[in-house]
Amino acid sequence: MRDLRLRYLDLLAGCLSRELFLELDEPGVDPADRHEGRDWPATAETMIGRRRLDNLIDCLATVLDDDIPGDVIETGVWRGGATILMRAALAAWEDPDRSVWVADSFNGLPPPDAAAFPADEGVDLSGIGALAVSRAEVASNFERYGLLDDRVRFLEGWFADTLSSAPISRLALIRLDGDLYQSTWEALDALYPKLSPGGILIVDDYGAFEPCRRAVHAYRDQHHIHEEIITVDWTGVWWRRDR
Ligand SMILES: C[S@@+](CC[C@H](N)C(=O)[O-])C[C@H]1O[C@@H](n2cnc3c(N)ncnc32)[C@H](O)[C@@H]1O
Repeated sequence: MRDLRLRYLDLLAGCLSRELFLELDEPGVDPADRHEGRDWPATAETMIGRRRLDNLIDCLATVLDDDIPGDVIETGVWRGGATILMRAALAAWEDPDRSVWVADSFNGLPPPDAAAFPADEGVDLSGIGALAVSRAEVASNFERYGLLDDRVRFLEGWFADTLSSAPISRLALIRLDGDLYQSTWEALDALYPKLSPGGILIVDDYGAFEPCRRAVHAYRDQHHIHEEIITVDWTGVWWRRDR
């Protein structure tokens, strides 16, 4: 049964990234870039690349096999691919009640707030239309894979306005993918205290964006978090909260 579950998630990851039929996504796309999650795909539902998709599958399998209590969330979903994979894992494990929280402005990144978050000074991704994907488009991407239901819960708006008041009591897995110091900090601040012992925290942008890395270390220092940071690929990292 476990093998079948993993085969389903593996197939789905190949579809979500378009790696299985790359020629249909974009003429001339570099297969290595797509594999490593270095490009912004034309149609694929995720940009995170194969190793980070495999890491997400491994982490979901771990928390579900070990019955770690709580929902799962991604902060910064773009077209929704990683959260679609999360919902698929819950279905594959026949989980009866966890939710997948899908948190995004659905309108791209905020402009940098250098007064409050000096590390973000000069990092302005707010005008990039390709990063603004509507909630309706993300919902329809879930539907394409037969995975849209009432356990897919959208948190629409800036993280500062949505995360701390969201009706989430516990989390088994948190995936951060908001690029900025501010987005990383706000997500950690609101959500990490809800991560169950044995739960997993994944940070997509640790290697790619120095502001993100700085936010992770500032938060770890402030909260005396000493679990080892494990590298996934050129940018992704994760750790498992001590039990
Ligand atoms: C790099 S994309 C996420 C990629 C996605 N995880 C995937 O699987 O392809 C970053 C996303 O974070 C969102 N975002 C970043 N900072 C945010 C914030 N402070 N509040 C709300 N959304 C934010 C953007 O709208 C964008 O959709």
